[in-house]
Amino acid sequence: MSGRGAGWLAHQHGVLGVTGSSPVAPTILIYIFIRDMAQFGRALGSGPRGRGFESHYPDQENKMDKRIPLFFALKNYIDKKRPAFHMPGHHRGKGIHKYLKELWGENVFLFDITEVEGMDYLHKPEGVIQEAQELAAKAFGAKKTFFLINGSTVGNLVMLVSTLNPQDKVVLQRNSHRSIIGGLAVFDLIPVYIQSEIHEYTGIPWGIKPETYEEVVRNNGTKVSFITSPNYYGMCENIEYILKIGRKYNQIMLLDEAHGVHFPFNSKLPVSGIKLGYDMVVQSAHKTLPSLTQTSYLHINGENIDMDRVFDALTFLESSSPSYLFMVSLDVVRYQMETEGEKIWNEILDLAEYTRNEINKIDGLYCFGKEILKDGIYDLDLTKITVNTKNIGLTGFEVEEILNKDYNIEIELSDSYNILIFLTPGIKKEEIDILINALKDISIKKRKSSITNNFVVPEIPPIAATPKEAFLREKEVIELTKAKGRISGKIVSAYPPGLPILVPGEVITENILNYIIDLKSKGANLQGFMDKDYNFIKVLK
Ligand SMILES: Cc1ncc(COP(=O)(O)O)c(C=O)c1O
Repeated sequence: MSGRGAGWLAHQHGVLGVTGSSPVAPTILIYIFIRDMAQFGRALGSGPRGRGFESHYPDQENKMDKRIPLFFALKNYIDKKRPAFHMPGHHRGKGIHKYLKELWGENVFLFDITEVEGMDYLHKPEGVIQEAQELAAKAFGAKKTFFLINGSTVGNLVMLVSTLNPQDKVVLQRNSHRSIIGGLAVFDLIPVYIQSEIHEYTGIPWGIKPETYEEVVRNNGTKVSFITSPNYYGMCENIEYILKIGRKYNQIMLLDEAHGVHFPFNSKLPVSGIKLGYDMVVQSAHKTLPSLTQTSYLHINGENIDMDRVFDALTFLESSSPSYLFMVSLDVVRYQMETEGEKIWNEILDLAEYTRNEINKIDGLYCFGKEILKDGIYDLDLTKITVNTKNIGLTGFEVEEILNKDYNIEIELSDSYNILIFLTPGIKKEEIDILINALKDISIKKRKSSITNNFVVPEIPPIAATPKEAFLREKEVIELTKAKGRISGKIVSAYPPGLPILVPGEVITENILNYIIDLKSKGANLQGFMDKDYNFIKVLK
C-alpha cells in the first residue's frame, strides 16, 4: 500500500500492533533523510519565500534535520512537490479563500499536512515524531515526553485517567484549573480539596503550604496528589518540599506546570517539577514560549506510571488527525529553547526588571517582585508582571478596559485589584514603553480614591453528589435566595479572590449562601450564574 499505508489505516481503525504497520521501514526513512540532506540547500532555497536555510545555519547544514527532525522532515517532504489526493481539503493551500491567501499565504498550508508517508503518526510514533519527542524529553530533563495537540487541558485529563480508577480519591488544590475539575466528572473521581492561600495585599490565590498539604494527605488515604504551580501570576509553591511529603505518603505526584514551561531553560527562573522528579508534569508551550496555541508537553519521570495506559489515554482523548503545524511548532520551540533559551530569558528578565522599576515609579501603582516571598510564597517567576491598581482607585478590570479602549493595548488578564502582563520572546522595550506611558496617563487622568481589599476565603462545602453524578443528573434553575440546602450543578466562583465557591455536587450551605449574597452586595464579579444579575443558580433536581 502506498501513501499513508497500512500503518495509518491500522491506527485510524484502532488496530494496533498490525504487522508491518509502519508505513516506511526505518532503513528507508534513514535513506530518505540522507538523500534529502544532500538536496537540503537546493530544496530549501526554493522553499517558502525563496530563502535558503543555509544562510541561517551556515555551519550546520547536514546536521539540522537530526536536531529539529520533524520540521526538516516536513520541509523535505514539501519539497518533493508530490501530486496530492488526500486530506486536508485545502489541497496544500491551493483551495483556500482569497482572504486567507492574502493574509496567511499558502506556505503555512504546505506544513498543514496529514499523516503522509514518512511523517510518522502521533498515536503510534516510530519515526520523526518519536525522534522529536525524544529530543524534547532530553531537553526538558524527562524520561519521556509526549507532544500534546489539545493543550494542557488534555494533559491534565490524561494524568488523571492514567493514574486513577473510578471512585478513587485524589488530593487537589482548590485553585486547580477547570480541566482538572472537569476530569473528576468525566472519570468519576472524588476530590479531596486543599484550600488555596491568598496573598493578602494583592488578593491573589497563590497555592498551598507544604504543612497544609501534609495534613490533608496524612488523613485521607489517597494514592494520587495533583499539584498546581506556578499560578497564572508566576507565584510558586514549595514544590520540592511538597514532593518530599508526597513521597512519604506514597503518593503518585502529578504537577500542572502549565505556566512554567520556560523554567528549564534559564537558571534564574524557578525550578521545574520535572527536575525535582514529579511523576508526571504538564506544561503549556503556547503560554510562554513562541509556540502555536494548543501546543503542550506531557513529561513522565515516574517509574510507577503505566505508560501503556498513558498512551491509550492520549489516543482516546486527542484528535486522530493531529495538526503537524502544532507538532512542528513543539519541535522547533524545543530546539530554540535548548540553543538560545538562557539568552532569550536573560533578555526578558532584564526587560522585566526595567518594566517593574518604571511602573513602580508611577504614583499609586505597585508591581511586586521577590519581596513578596516574605509573605509565604515560595518563589516568583519574574517574567510575569502583576500591577496592583487598587491605590489609583481602579479595579484591574477597569484598567484593562481603559487600556483596551483608550490606548489600544491588550494585556493578559485582569482581576479586581491587578492587571497581569506577560513578557514573552519577541517583546521589545519600545512596546513596554507604550504600556508604561499609558499606565502613567491612566494614573493621572482616571485616578479615584483607593480601593481596599474586600474578601474572605470561602469554606469548602460538603460534597453531596460525586462530580460525575452532578454532571449527569437532571438540573433546574432556581432563585439564589431559595438555594439553601440544594446541590450545586455548576462551578460558582467570585473575583476576588477567584476561587471556586461551589463545584458541581457541593451543598449550598447557609454559610455559603450568605457568603454569595454578601459578595453580590459588595459588587463582586461572580461566575456560574444563569443571569447577569446573579439571581438564578443551577442546582440538581
Ligand atoms: C493552571 C492551568 N492549567 C491548565 C491550563 C490549560 O491549559 P491549555 O490552555 O494549554 O489547555 C490552564 C489554562 O489557562 C491553566 O491556567
